[in-house]
Amino acid sequence: MNTRIFLATAILALVALPAAAAGNAAAGKAKSTVCASCHGADGNSPTPAFPKLAGQNDDYLEHALKAYRDKSRVNAIMNGQAANLSDQDIADLAAYFASQSGLKYKR
Ligand code: HEC
Repeated sequence: MNTRIFLATAILALVALPAAAAGNAAAGKAKSTVCASCHGADGNSPTPAFPKLAGQNDDYLEHALKAYRDKSRVNAIMNGQAANLSDQDIADLAAYFASQSGLKYKR
């Protein structure tokens, strides 16, 4: 293969690789109805038994959900909740909860 064409293709492929699936908050809101019973509709959970998700960093939420999905973070409830989420579902849910206000220090 022509080396220049190979290099150009390889560079294009690298540039085109997205760092991670971009989350869509509106899609995440639609997917979050199942989460609302425990975490609250906007992620501000009504009880301390369920962590607040509203305003949490999207990277953190994504990491936590992937950890529940692959069971490197063990919790019987959340392992079940995350088991069938796709990467896109997780990115969308993370974008939605991160866009809500909640976990912010009062200044
Ligand atoms: C039946 C109740 C229940 C439902 C429904 C539920 N969760 Fe959870 N969630 C929990 C509990 C309990 C924890 C704390 C688990 C632990 O200690 O690791 C938790 C933890 C989490 C965490 C980690 C929070 C942190 O601060 O580390 C995330 C993220 C999360 N849930 C997202 C979701 C999403 C997204 C959904 C919907 C797809 C969902 N949960 C549905 C009960 C629930």
